[in-house]
Amino acid sequence: MNTHRQDFPLLRDCKVVYFDNACQTLRPKQVIEAINEYYQDYPACGGRSMHHLAAKVTHKCEEARSIISTFLHAKRKEEIVFTRNTTEGINLVAHSLGLKAGDIVIISDKEHNSNLIPWQVLRDKIGIEYKIIYSKEDNTFDLEAYKQALNNRVKLVSLGFTSNLDGVTIPANEIITLAHKAGALVLLDGAQAVPHRKIDVQDLDVDFLAFSGHKMLGPSGTGVLYGKYSLLTKLDPFMVGGDTVASSTYETHEFLPPPEKFEAGLQDYAGIIGLGAAVNYLNTIGFEFIEQQEQMLNKYITTELKTISGLKIIGPSDPKERGGICSFYIPGKDHHQIALMLDETSKIMIRSGQHCVHSWFYAHQIPGSVRASVYFYNTMNEAEVFIRELKKVVSIL
Ligand SMILES: Cc1ncc(COP(=O)(O)O)c(C=O)c1O
Repeated sequence: MNTHRQDFPLLRDCKVVYFDNACQTLRPKQVIEAINEYYQDYPACGGRSMHHLAAKVTHKCEEARSIISTFLHAKRKEEIVFTRNTTEGINLVAHSLGLKAGDIVIISDKEHNSNLIPWQVLRDKIGIEYKIIYSKEDNTFDLEAYKQALNNRVKLVSLGFTSNLDGVTIPANEIITLAHKAGALVLLDGAQAVPHRKIDVQDLDVDFLAFSGHKMLGPSGTGVLYGKYSLLTKLDPFMVGGDTVASSTYETHEFLPPPEKFEAGLQDYAGIIGLGAAVNYLNTIGFEFIEQQEQMLNKYITTELKTISGLKIIGPSDPKERGGICSFYIPGKDHHQIALMLDETSKIMIRSGQHCVHSWFYAHQIPGSVRASVYFYNTMNEAEVFIRELKKVVSIL
């Protein structure tokens, strides 16, 4: 019995099989309580007013910043910028870095739209270029092609740390070392990495890391951009206004230091405090258990999927290389139909479609896939139910 399930209201009576964790995870009661506590006990505005409720909000938000800073092993808590999600973090870097015409950004062929569209927009607006590193046959990162692509015009390497398409993780340490040698900065899209394995930003020496709270037990619409402090001080804020400045006149203004200069307007205090509670909770679970559980489930799911005639798994066939994600398609069978039937017949929730990586699907002429993504609270029993019901659905489609 997985005792952590008791903390998740939706799982207490096994009402659903929730295998859509790459989209959003469920939230434990500790996170829900932290959010409720804010709204019930101190629903005030942080940073601005002088009264004691406001002071409490500021204190709780700064506490959350410290928790996240320690979690990532950042050098200082001011390296943690609160955002709404990974997308905002990537956009913040894209629009604040001061890229110029002719500068090159390296991405891969498997980027989420959040790490593709910002570069397309900057190409059209200011004339940057982006270079795509195409994956190897098994969809893993092509380090040789990457080495060839690095040159002194490359200003930024912006890569998905773990792919939401197939669960493959890139060799980030090597990629970062090579980028720095070539004089480029590195931004990692950590949306699918930070919730699943221990990340030490100092050990990685990564320059920027964007991730979402809602994929790691936190409230919806919360996220973080980690950035080295020395770089954050040089970046121009992307969104400006209230709370970003120390003072202003009719003519000019003086920005606050990071992270404040990036956190414009009234913040999602309940979300930030809830995210702190989520990270505290993850710390009690530990990544050893999380990885072990995901591996066990993905191994079983992969072995069983391979017995279904015509089914193709996206990415390496070895589940050890795909974390908690198993993305597959069966030519001739509609992925959305599979997802709808699993939900209707057995309340099994998985994702179907192109997972915001339309570019990869178009390039490979595959209409879409079914994606099962597990987390530590999922069980072998759920995996067995999923496989049993999937086999039924596939046989009648
Ligand atoms: C790899 C990856 N990057 C970026 C995102 C965008 O995350 P968000 O919608 O929280 O900004 C996602 C969301 O699924 C993702 O999986």
